Amino acid sequence: MAESITITDNRTGQSIEVPIVDGGVSAAEFSKLLPGIWFYDPGFSATAECESAITFIDGDAGILRYRGYPIEQLAERSTYLEVAYLLLNGDLPTREQYDAWVREITYHTFIHENVRKRFLEGFHYDAHPMGMLVSAVAALSTFYPEAKNIFDPESRHKQIVRLIAKMPTLAAATHRFSVGMPFVYPDNSLGFAENFLSMMWKVAEPRFEANPVLARAIDVLFILHADHEQNCSTTTMRVVGSSHADPYSSCAAATAALYGPRHGGANEAVLRMLTSIASIDNVPAFIQAVKEGKGRLQGFGHRVYKNYDPRAKIIRRIAYEVFEVTGKNPLLDIALKLEEAALADEYFTSRKLYPNVDFYSGLIYQAMGFPVEMFPVLFAIPRTSGWLAHWVEMLDKNTKLARPRQIYNGSPERPYVPIEQRS
Ligand code: CMC
Repeated sequence: MAESITITDNRTGQSIEVPIVDGGVSAAEFSKLLPGIWFYDPGFSATAECESAITFIDGDAGILRYRGYPIEQLAERSTYLEVAYLLLNGDLPTREQYDAWVREITYHTFIHENVRKRFLEGFHYDAHPMGMLVSAVAALSTFYPEAKNIFDPESRHKQIVRLIAKMPTLAAATHRFSVGMPFVYPDNSLGFAENFLSMMWKVAEPRFEANPVLARAIDVLFILHADHEQNCSTTTMRVVGSSHADPYSSCAAATAALYGPRHGGANEAVLRMLTSIASIDNVPAFIQAVKEGKGRLQGFGHRVYKNYDPRAKIIRRIAYEVFEVTGKNPLLDIALKLEEAALADEYFTSRKLYPNVDFYSGLIYQAMGFPVEMFPVLFAIPRTSGWLAHWVEMLDKNTKLARPRQIYNGSPERPYVPIEQRS
């Protein structure tokens, strides 16, 4: 075989030739020779958990495609709802399919009154919106018990539509609650992004008219965040979904995974970092501290991209469009200086650390008036379509229950000691 590796089990002298397919080898092939042997791979950095036809990333070249379409073209020409359709169905919709899809999503934007009254309003006044969102998404499973019928195509489709449609409503509701403002019902005469902005910002006006530049910026940010193959939260969605949990419970788990600062919480961490740096004069000292291991340069580095994250390039451009409307975010100069300093520094270049999607997105969100606590929530809204696309793909392939192995390095067997005899 031209592309293969040969493994010899020195205990038995037996050899096996394993083909290298798509740059990797199948554990199932290894296992023919080495039954019961596991591979130690914390963080799964050398493990392909699944086959997927949804998103393609070439981290070295800085390429990202959804279902074959370059992210740059989708960001330029598509809408978030069209991209959600693409991710879920594999192809771009016809006009008829698109209109029906938008109509369906729009129809499902309302949430059950008890989700708001009993769950969201039951939180402490200073609850983090992301904690509220995780709980509210999980609570939805109790409102739609038929969601358990995950192999019933009609029920599955209904839950997918509900989740995509209700995410902005839940997201805005968490914000309104945290600032003591009344809940704003969806306005189904508005587009997806415009409706979200209306639920966020509407005060007393009969109809909230979002600035079209800002609404488009939100829609493009949603496109950019819709999927990113086997990231931490998507893997969580697949792992929880592999137990055949309902999609709300799986999405709640994925949302929880997105909460952490190493994943969806990173743009919040970027803003806090830029605020603490406070002035461009402090940039060199900050860079030096990072190089000495005192913290990380938030918004830099990626498990897969070893080049400029293509999403970061698009976001950098959108930032300028948004600042034309909102005025420049004063932290932008610090961010630009940090980027310049890091890209000129051997520590960062030798480790292939470049700006990722989160480096500039927080600046845009802040300029638009979103509090930092809402940043991971803004990520969860569009990523829901990606999670669901992976969930469907996983179920359609009848994937096995996710159940990795471990290396036990605890105590050997020892007898139980009654409490009076313990020292
Ligand atoms: N600042 C400074 N050093 C870094 C950074 C950083 N942001 N990221 C990685 N390094 C260093 C790290 O110290 C290590 O150095 P050494 O080899 O000397 O020990 C080397 O680079 C490799 O780091 P790693 O932690 O093994 O790499 P990873 O693939 O596990 O990390 C990451 C990926 C995203 C967790 C990491 O780059 C990071 O913590 N970045 C900051 C947080 C961030 O921006 N996260 C958002 C990721 S993009 C959003 C998403 O898709 O979810």
